[in-house]
Amino acid sequence: MNGFKFYLPTRVVFEKGALSRIGEFASRFGKKCLLMTGKNFARKHGYTDDILEKLSNFELRTHLFEEVEPNPTKKTVLKAVDNFLNNECEVIIAFGGGSVIDAAKAVALISKLGGQIEDYFFPNIVEKEIYPVIAIPTTCGTGSEATRYAVITDNDEGLKKTISGDPLVPRIALLDVNNLKHIPKEVFSNTSADTFCHAIESFVNIKYTHLSDLFAKESIKFAFDNVVEAYKGNEDSKEHMLYASLLAGVAINFSGSTAVHALGYYLTSKHGIPHGLASAVFLLPVLEYEKDSISDRIYELAYAMRLKQTDPEYFINALNQKFHEIGIIRSLLDLGIGYGEKENIIRKALLFSRNLDNNPVKLEVKDLTTIVDMAYTR
Ligand SMILES: [Fe+2]
Repeated sequence: MNGFKFYLPTRVVFEKGALSRIGEFASRFGKKCLLMTGKNFARKHGYTDDILEKLSNFELRTHLFEEVEPNPTKKTVLKAVDNFLNNECEVIIAFGGGSVIDAAKAVALISKLGGQIEDYFFPNIVEKEIYPVIAIPTTCGTGSEATRYAVITDNDEGLKKTISGDPLVPRIALLDVNNLKHIPKEVFSNTSADTFCHAIESFVNIKYTHLSDLFAKESIKFAFDNVVEAYKGNEDSKEHMLYASLLAGVAINFSGSTAVHALGYYLTSKHGIPHGLASAVFLLPVLEYEKDSISDRIYELAYAMRLKQTDPEYFINALNQKFHEIGIIRSLLDLGIGYGEKENIIRKALLFSRNLDNNPVKLEVKDLTTIVDMAYTR
């Protein structure tokens, strides 16, 4: 049995309408806060003004940083750090998808502990406390509201790098289905696919534990049952996807991700393909390639999902069908990635040895080549 440490210091508030309580939560940490959002979504749909009003009701002075881009860069983080420090903020509210929440974690880290971002990239581990982050997800796939990770793009190298450590876990995760009301369908699909990846990668991971299995199985059960209805707009199903995303985030916190995520990183950093989609395009090929070695684990997942059959073929086909129903693009060619990119994808994946080391099957270059070939021809 794999041993484990369980540390989740996050106050999870999972409640429709919980956003209206943001002033109450933020005021626990001080009088000045930095509200971080992406460039358009929060303001366009009135969330920014709403949050500012709620915070002012609690006499909080709020400074705004509305410049977080998808796959946030070091440069953006440093700009936000200046904003945080110049205004003597004490807490960060991150309202957005994984990019906003990850950027907020990095800002809380650098603002508190100083130094260069490079000082904290993995394999270094953050151990000292950082400023508190309140994470409010507006997508259902990142899980970042409950993870000890922040992924930041290094501008100089264009490489995604991970900052890791327990202090990065947000102090409050505020999950309110009302924040998914305006989620674009494509964003919903791509982030939901990330939830599936997190749950499955955690479960088949060599670092899986009995406790992480609980979260992964519960996550994939709800994701599988709800993703299509949520895609069609059903609010109750969307709420269940938000729940599944949180659980998958907790699961991945135990184990980290595997070859699936490692293979996806090139597509995001080079071609800007959304993270969840970049991982999803490799999920089924990786499972297909490894299925004989992990059939026992797939059986357990399929059983948790109450599938009619529990063999790997049925499981993979069932996932394939769900991805199809929510419009997930399935082949690299359909994503516009030509055969000439194959070696680049593999070379980049090999840089993420920590993910590959987690994989249930040891993958050499020849194995990765076969998997990528499968991802081209699906
Ligand atoms: Fe992910």
